[in-house]
Amino acid sequence: MCGIIGYTGNNLAAPILLEGLERLEYRGYDSAGIAVLGSNGDPTVHKSQGKLSALTHTLGTGMPEGTTGIGHTRWATHGGPTDHNAHPHTDCSNQVAVVHNGIVENFLNLRSELISQGHKFSSETDSECIPHLIESFLNLGLSFRDSVLKTSERLRGAHAVVAISHSEPGQLVAFRLGNAGGLVIGYGKDQHFLASDIPAILPHTREVAYLGNEESVHISISDVEYSTLDGQKISKSKGTVSYDAVSAGKGEYPHFMLKEIHEQPESIINTMRGQISFEKYEVNLDGFHLSDHEIQKIERVVLLGMGTSLHAAMVGRNWIESISRIPAEADNSSEFRYRDAIIDEKTLVISVCQSGETADTLAAMSQAQALGAPQVTLCNYEGTQTSRIAGSTILLRSGPEIGVAASKTFVCSLTALYMLALELGIRRGSLSPNELKKSIDELAHLPEMLGTLLSDDENYLSLANKFYQFSDFLYLGRGLNYPLAMEGALKLKEISYIHAEGYPAGEMKHGPISLIDEKMPIVALIPKDSLYEKMLNSISEAKTRGGTVIAITTDGDEKIKELSDYQIYMPEASPIINPILAALPMQLLAYHIAVKRECDVDQPRNLAKSVTVE
Ligand code: G6P
Repeated sequence: MCGIIGYTGNNLAAPILLEGLERLEYRGYDSAGIAVLGSNGDPTVHKSQGKLSALTHTLGTGMPEGTTGIGHTRWATHGGPTDHNAHPHTDCSNQVAVVHNGIVENFLNLRSELISQGHKFSSETDSECIPHLIESFLNLGLSFRDSVLKTSERLRGAHAVVAISHSEPGQLVAFRLGNAGGLVIGYGKDQHFLASDIPAILPHTREVAYLGNEESVHISISDVEYSTLDGQKISKSKGTVSYDAVSAGKGEYPHFMLKEIHEQPESIINTMRGQISFEKYEVNLDGFHLSDHEIQKIERVVLLGMGTSLHAAMVGRNWIESISRIPAEADNSSEFRYRDAIIDEKTLVISVCQSGETADTLAAMSQAQALGAPQVTLCNYEGTQTSRIAGSTILLRSGPEIGVAASKTFVCSLTALYMLALELGIRRGSLSPNELKKSIDELAHLPEMLGTLLSDDENYLSLANKFYQFSDFLYLGRGLNYPLAMEGALKLKEISYIHAEGYPAGEMKHGPISLIDEKMPIVALIPKDSLYEKMLNSISEAKTRGGTVIAITTDGDEKIKELSDYQIYMPEASPIINPILAALPMQLLAYHIAVKRECDVDQPRNLAKSVTVE
């Protein structure tokens, strides 16, 4: 949470910082600010509560001079979303400016210690301790860089910090401590960049390196120097990011989310590319490094995730059990990490975390690592924090997802989990080559099937018109589609602020049925599978009680028209891959309802895309 950017070079820093912040706004949008080292050497700070547009409006055409600077977009934790709590924060003498992502857990102690030494605070944030600490080390005669490193030793919690100082024009000093979000360093010609996430620097460079945990970087126009937090130099190699700035733009779409929904057929092709042979009928996941012996040793699989990724993990659990016949369970990372789970070297832990930086998932993975479990992580980028913990990484390759509510990363996570279940099935001998061939043939048609689902705008617009003013929804599904019901309800909540519950339909009689009346529409996932008849019973019961049913069903199902009020049809597919198809109606229904309610679809209130604090 919170987005950080830094720049040093020969160009005006402010426009570069603002453009980068726009691409980081999905990480938080409570306030935004920049600090630029002006001609007198002091940092000039401009900040404003609210979205970045409020800051750009205040600045107008009067961009501050200076070619070195830092910027921040905030998701508030300590201190409300006000102007004075916005970053960057400065010290008493305005010689240092700092942007921070994380929580200073010992800030109350540090704050009173610093106040007793005479420091004056101008915000209620935990972050403001950082420039004052740097100032206190500078006052002892330490260099700027050493002062920043010494400051890192005083902080408890997880942090990403970037600082500038008038004593070091043209320089940025940054460090990472714990899992509070990544920092990527971008290399340009006579200029360098630093950001929480790659899209922020993509218009300028694709040459990048990642700052590791407990590492620091000292950046000037001509040089980038890495060290450990105790000052030992380290070397790091650069890599090239494989997508360009164009793919991170909105293009012809009104919202990133709609663009990302429409990209799904192509995104899953990228997820599958090189990992499945459609000629030889083989699955060979690039980043999955377990030997046959290690795979045979697995007695249990635990899948972890949060939010949408947890729903993908729940579908993955069913696939792994049915295809690879290994007992599997899915758990919420934030629950898993505190429940003293029984995990050992025979438990395969699979984490689903598109950002690679969700704090709870990282903590759960660290625990599993300490207990000796082999791990596979699914994430969207190379070099993420999750992939540094897991022995194996399966890259989603969805391309940048800017809309805060996950769409294409969900569908790509499902596709990757399905491929993983197939690979485990073949290597454990529970899946025959013939069964694998059938699955691969179907996967070859999946992009086309997803494409078909995208051509039914009229139906969604008309449903949105009918239902946008309702305040409660119930989503029902069974088996593989139960997690999809959860995901549908989550999507609607996230972006339209309508209360929605996702339930396994079999549970309906144990409570939710009492909520049903004409004011509570029911979205029912009823594809043609082994639970079809049971789902029909559930919607009949709902209709008997006055409920209005929107059925999401398989092409050609005429019977459903008698039992439901509205229908969304999906192409015919084998039940096992149906959840991948069902994801799209869930997304499109929520999207069109949210647009009709004039909600901020890409940046829903209070949410952030990467939850890097607990
Ligand atoms: C946040 C986002 C969700 C996402 C979840 C897990 O809540 O708003 O869209 O599903 O984090 O993110 P991860 O990066 O772990 O997949």
